[in-house]
Amino acid sequence: MAQPARLRIPVHLGVIMDGNGRWAKARGKRRTEGHVEGVKALRRLVELCINYGVGHCTVFSFSSENWTRPREEVAFIFNLLRRFVASDLQKLIRNNVQVRIIGSREGLEPSLVRLIDDVEAKTASNTGLVLVVAFNYGGKAEIAEATRRLAREVAAGRLSPEHITEQAIEAALYTAGLPDPDLIIRTSGEQRISNFLLWQAAYSEFVFVDEYWPDFDEQSFLKVLETFSLRDRRFGGIGVAQP
Ligand code: IPE
Ligand code: IPE
Ligand code: MG
Repeated sequence: MAQPARLRIPVHLGVIMDGNGRWAKARGKRRTEGHVEGVKALRRLVELCINYGVGHCTVFSFSSENWTRPREEVAFIFNLLRRFVASDLQKLIRNNVQVRIIGSREGLEPSLVRLIDDVEAKTASNTGLVLVVAFNYGGKAEIAEATRRLAREVAAGRLSPEHITEQAIEAALYTAGLPDPDLIIRTSGEQRISNFLLWQAAYSEFVFVDEYWPDFDEQSFLKVLETFSLRDRRFGGIGVAQP
Protein backbone atom coordinates (compact mmCIF):
# COMPACT_ATOMS: atom_id res chain seq x y z
CA MET A 1 0.00 0.00 0.00
CA ALA A 2 1.17 3.56 -0.70
CA GLN A 3 2.47 5.34 2.38
CA PRO A 4 1.01 8.74 3.26
CA ALA A 5 3.57 11.55 3.50
CA ARG A 6 2.14 12.47 6.84
CA LEU A 7 -0.37 10.78 9.10
CA ARG A 8 -3.61 12.74 9.16
CA ILE A 9 -5.20 12.66 12.61
CA PRO A 10 -8.99 12.85 12.70
CA VAL A 11 -10.53 15.70 14.65
CA HIS A 12 -13.44 13.42 15.47
CA LEU A 13 -13.15 9.67 15.24
CA GLY A 14 -16.24 7.46 15.43
CA VAL A 15 -15.87 3.78 16.24
CA ILE A 16 -18.45 1.02 15.81
CA MET A 17 -16.92 -1.49 18.20
CA ASP A 18 -18.29 -4.68 16.66
CA GLY A 19 -17.45 -8.37 16.94
CA ASN A 20 -17.21 -9.05 20.68
CA GLY A 21 -19.57 -12.01 20.43
CA ARG A 22 -17.79 -13.59 17.48
CA TRP A 23 -14.41 -13.02 19.14
CA ALA A 24 -15.65 -15.04 22.11
CA LYS A 25 -17.30 -17.74 20.00
CA ALA A 26 -14.11 -18.29 18.03
CA ARG A 27 -12.41 -19.08 21.34
CA GLY A 28 -15.15 -21.31 22.73
CA LYS A 29 -16.07 -18.65 25.29
CA ARG A 30 -19.37 -17.06 26.22
CA ARG A 31 -20.39 -13.86 24.39
CA THR A 32 -20.18 -11.94 27.65
CA GLU A 33 -16.45 -12.68 27.83
CA GLY A 34 -16.13 -10.96 24.49
CA HIS A 35 -17.73 -7.86 25.96
CA VAL A 36 -15.24 -7.90 28.85
CA GLU A 37 -12.37 -8.02 26.34
CA GLY A 38 -14.11 -5.27 24.39
CA VAL A 39 -13.79 -2.94 27.36
CA LYS A 40 -10.03 -3.61 27.41
CA ALA A 41 -9.86 -2.62 23.75
CA LEU A 42 -11.82 0.54 24.57
CA ARG A 43 -9.23 1.47 27.23
CA ARG A 44 -6.51 0.94 24.62
CA LEU A 45 -8.40 3.13 22.16
CA VAL A 46 -8.73 5.97 24.67
CA GLU A 47 -4.95 5.86 25.30
CA LEU A 48 -4.28 5.84 21.56
CA CYS A 49 -6.56 8.83 20.99
CA ILE A 50 -4.77 10.74 23.74
CA ASN A 51 -1.29 9.79 22.49
CA TYR A 52 -2.01 10.59 18.85
CA GLY A 53 -3.95 13.78 19.53
CA VAL A 54 -7.43 12.77 18.36
CA GLY A 55 -9.72 15.55 19.62
CA HIS A 56 -13.03 13.72 19.92
CA CYS A 57 -13.82 10.04 19.90
CA THR A 58 -17.35 8.64 19.79
CA VAL A 59 -17.72 4.94 20.52
CA PHE A 60 -20.86 2.94 19.83
CA SER A 61 -21.36 0.77 22.89
CA PHE A 62 -25.08 -0.08 22.94
CA SER A 63 -27.64 0.62 20.23
CA SER A 64 -31.35 1.18 20.66
CA GLU A 65 -31.78 -2.04 18.65
CA ASN A 66 -29.52 -4.05 20.97
CA TRP A 67 -32.50 -4.37 23.37
CA THR A 68 -33.62 -7.27 21.14
CA ARG A 69 -30.76 -9.40 22.52
CA PRO A 70 -31.26 -11.95 25.30
CA ARG A 71 -32.09 -10.22 28.60
CA GLU A 72 -28.97 -11.58 30.34
CA GLU A 73 -26.66 -10.17 27.67
CA VAL A 74 -28.32 -6.74 27.87
CA ALA A 75 -28.03 -6.78 31.67
CA PHE A 76 -24.36 -7.78 31.41
CA ILE A 77 -23.57 -4.90 29.05
CA PHE A 78 -25.36 -2.43 31.34
CA ASN A 79 -23.33 -3.73 34.29
CA LEU A 80 -20.14 -3.39 32.28
CA LEU A 81 -20.87 0.31 31.77
CA ARG A 82 -21.29 0.72 35.53
CA ARG A 83 -18.09 -1.21 36.18
CA PHE A 84 -16.18 0.78 33.58
CA VAL A 85 -17.22 4.04 35.23
CA ALA A 86 -16.33 2.73 38.70
CA SER A 87 -12.89 1.48 37.64
CA ASP A 88 -11.86 4.14 35.14
CA LEU A 89 -13.39 7.45 36.17
CA GLN A 90 -10.44 8.61 38.27
CA LYS A 91 -7.99 7.78 35.48
CA LEU A 92 -10.14 9.58 32.91
CA ILE A 93 -10.17 12.65 35.17
CA ARG A 94 -6.37 12.44 35.64
CA ASN A 95 -5.95 12.18 31.87
CA ASN A 96 -8.05 15.32 31.34
CA VAL A 97 -10.72 13.39 29.39
CA GLN A 98 -14.18 14.93 29.07
CA VAL A 99 -16.88 12.27 28.94
CA ARG A 100 -20.22 12.74 27.22
CA ILE A 101 -22.85 10.05 27.02
CA ILE A 102 -25.28 10.32 24.13
CA GLY A 103 -28.44 8.34 23.56
CA SER A 104 -31.92 8.11 24.97
CA ARG A 105 -32.24 8.27 28.75
CA GLU A 106 -35.72 6.80 28.47
CA GLY A 107 -35.94 3.21 29.64
CA LEU A 108 -32.74 3.52 31.70
CA GLU A 109 -32.88 2.90 35.43
CA PRO A 110 -32.80 6.13 37.46
CA SER A 111 -29.58 5.00 39.20
CA LEU A 112 -27.90 4.59 35.80
CA VAL A 113 -29.09 8.03 34.68
CA ARG A 114 -27.63 9.50 37.88
CA LEU A 115 -24.33 7.73 37.23
CA ILE A 116 -24.20 9.11 33.67
CA ASP A 117 -24.99 12.63 34.89
CA ASP A 118 -22.32 12.29 37.56
CA VAL A 119 -19.59 11.21 35.09
CA GLU A 120 -20.46 14.06 32.76
CA ALA A 121 -20.45 16.60 35.61
CA LYS A 122 -17.15 15.36 37.07
CA THR A 123 -15.36 15.57 33.72
CA ALA A 124 -17.14 18.59 32.23
CA SER A 125 -14.29 21.03 32.85
CA ASN A 126 -11.62 18.72 31.37
CA THR A 127 -9.99 20.10 28.26
CA GLY A 128 -8.33 17.04 26.68
CA LEU A 129 -9.89 14.23 24.66
CA VAL A 130 -13.68 14.38 24.42
CA LEU A 131 -14.84 10.78 24.82
CA VAL A 132 -18.43 10.42 23.63
CA VAL A 133 -20.08 7.16 24.58
CA ALA A 134 -23.12 6.31 22.44
CA PHE A 135 -25.19 4.24 24.82
CA ASN A 136 -28.83 3.35 24.20
CA TYR A 137 -28.21 5.33 21.04
CA GLY A 138 -29.96 5.18 17.66
CA GLY A 139 -29.48 7.72 14.89
CA LYS A 140 -33.12 7.64 13.80
CA ALA A 141 -34.33 8.04 17.39
CA GLU A 142 -31.93 10.97 17.81
CA ILE A 143 -33.33 12.74 14.74
CA ALA A 144 -36.91 12.02 15.85
CA GLU A 145 -36.17 13.43 19.31
CA ALA A 146 -34.58 16.57 17.81
CA THR A 147 -37.60 16.98 15.52
CA ARG A 148 -40.00 16.75 18.45
CA ARG A 149 -37.97 19.35 20.33
CA LEU A 150 -38.09 21.79 17.40
CA ALA A 151 -41.79 21.10 16.78
CA ARG A 152 -42.54 22.01 20.40
CA GLU A 153 -40.68 25.30 19.92
CA VAL A 154 -42.74 26.04 16.80
CA ALA A 155 -46.01 25.09 18.55
CA ALA A 156 -45.13 27.42 21.43
CA GLY A 157 -44.54 30.25 18.98
CA ARG A 158 -40.84 30.56 19.87
CA LEU A 159 -39.52 29.37 16.51
CA SER A 160 -40.72 29.97 12.98
CA PRO A 161 -40.61 27.05 10.49
CA GLU A 162 -38.23 29.15 8.33
CA HIS A 163 -35.68 28.93 11.13
CA ILE A 164 -35.53 25.16 11.01
CA THR A 165 -32.16 25.13 9.34
CA GLU A 166 -29.41 22.52 9.31
CA GLN A 167 -27.78 24.45 12.15
CA ALA A 168 -31.00 24.41 14.19
CA ILE A 169 -31.34 20.65 13.72
CA GLU A 170 -27.70 20.11 14.65
CA ALA A 171 -28.18 22.13 17.82
CA ALA A 172 -31.11 19.88 18.77
CA LEU A 173 -29.20 16.60 18.31
CA TYR A 174 -27.44 14.81 21.20
CA THR A 175 -24.15 15.78 19.57
CA ALA A 176 -24.79 19.55 19.72
CA GLY A 177 -21.50 21.40 19.77
CA LEU A 178 -19.39 18.47 18.53
CA PRO A 179 -17.75 18.52 15.10
CA ASP A 180 -18.98 15.87 12.65
CA PRO A 181 -16.85 12.72 12.63
CA ASP A 182 -14.27 12.87 9.85
CA LEU A 183 -13.50 9.16 10.16
CA ILE A 184 -15.67 6.22 11.20
CA ILE A 185 -14.14 2.81 11.82
CA ARG A 186 -16.12 -0.41 12.01
CA THR A 187 -14.48 -3.62 13.11
CA SER A 188 -15.52 -7.26 12.55
CA GLY A 189 -15.84 -7.13 8.76
CA GLU A 190 -19.43 -5.84 8.68
CA GLN A 191 -19.87 -2.97 6.27
CA ARG A 192 -22.91 -1.08 7.45
CA ILE A 193 -23.74 1.89 9.66
CA SER A 194 -26.29 0.14 11.94
CA ASN A 195 -28.00 3.43 12.91
CA PHE A 196 -24.80 5.15 14.16
CA LEU A 197 -24.52 8.96 13.77
CA LEU A 198 -26.76 9.02 10.68
CA TRP A 199 -26.94 12.79 10.36
CA GLN A 200 -23.38 13.47 11.45
CA ALA A 201 -21.82 10.91 9.08
CA ALA A 202 -22.92 12.79 5.93
CA TYR A 203 -19.29 13.31 4.86
CA SER A 204 -17.40 10.90 7.09
CA GLU A 205 -14.78 8.61 5.63
CA PHE A 206 -15.44 4.96 6.46
CA VAL A 207 -12.76 2.39 7.11
CA PHE A 208 -13.86 -1.20 7.67
CA VAL A 209 -11.46 -3.63 9.28
CA ASP A 210 -11.84 -7.38 9.52
CA GLU A 211 -10.54 -7.79 13.06
CA TYR A 212 -13.02 -8.29 15.89
CA TRP A 213 -13.16 -5.37 18.30
CA PRO A 214 -11.25 -7.07 21.18
CA ASP A 215 -8.27 -7.54 18.82
CA PHE A 216 -8.09 -3.89 17.77
CA ASP A 217 -4.71 -2.54 18.87
CA GLU A 218 -2.15 0.17 18.07
CA GLN A 219 -1.09 -1.55 14.86
CA SER A 220 -4.71 -1.70 13.65
CA PHE A 221 -5.20 1.93 14.64
CA LEU A 222 -2.14 3.06 12.69
CA LYS A 223 -3.19 1.08 9.63
CA VAL A 224 -6.60 2.77 9.69
CA LEU A 225 -5.00 6.21 10.05
CA GLU A 226 -2.75 5.47 7.06
CA THR A 227 -5.78 4.53 4.96
CA PHE A 228 -7.60 7.66 6.11
CA SER A 229 -4.57 9.83 5.33
CA LEU A 230 -4.65 8.70 1.69
CA ARG A 231 -8.33 9.55 1.18
CA ASP A 232 -9.21 12.51 -1.00
CA ARG A 233 -12.09 14.22 0.76
CA ARG A 234 -14.04 16.30 -1.74
CA PHE A 235 -17.26 17.37 0.06
CA GLY A 236 -18.98 17.67 -3.31
CA GLY A 237 -16.18 19.75 -4.84
CA ILE A 238 -13.49 18.61 -7.27
CA GLY A 239 -10.73 17.94 -4.77
CA VAL A 240 -7.10 18.95 -4.59
CA ALA A 241 -5.68 16.63 -7.28
CA GLN A 242 -7.46 18.35 -10.17
CA PRO A 243 -5.62 20.75 -12.53
C1 IPE B 1 -20.35 -5.34 19.67
O1 IPE B 1 -20.16 -6.70 19.59
C2 IPE B 1 -20.87 -4.92 21.03
C3 IPE B 1 -22.31 -4.61 21.07
C4 IPE B 1 -23.11 -4.53 20.06
C5 IPE B 1 -22.86 -4.37 22.39
P1 IPE B 1 -21.35 -7.72 19.27
O2 IPE B 1 -21.95 -8.13 20.57
O3 IPE B 1 -22.27 -7.13 18.30
O4 IPE B 1 -20.56 -8.92 18.64
P2 IPE B 1 -20.99 -9.78 17.38
O5 IPE B 1 -21.25 -8.81 16.27
O6 IPE B 1 -22.21 -10.53 17.78
O7 IPE B 1 -19.82 -10.64 17.11
C1 IPE C 1 -23.69 -2.04 16.20
O1 IPE C 1 -23.40 -3.38 16.21
C2 IPE C 1 -23.90 -1.54 17.60
C3 IPE C 1 -22.71 -1.51 18.45
C4 IPE C 1 -21.50 -1.79 18.09
C5 IPE C 1 -22.95 -1.09 19.81
P1 IPE C 1 -24.52 -4.52 16.05
O2 IPE C 1 -23.82 -5.81 16.22
O3 IPE C 1 -25.65 -4.25 16.96
O4 IPE C 1 -25.01 -4.29 14.56
P2 IPE C 1 -25.71 -5.29 13.53
O5 IPE C 1 -26.88 -5.90 14.23
O6 IPE C 1 -24.71 -6.33 13.16
O7 IPE C 1 -26.08 -4.44 12.36
MG1 MG D 1 -22.39 -7.13 16.28
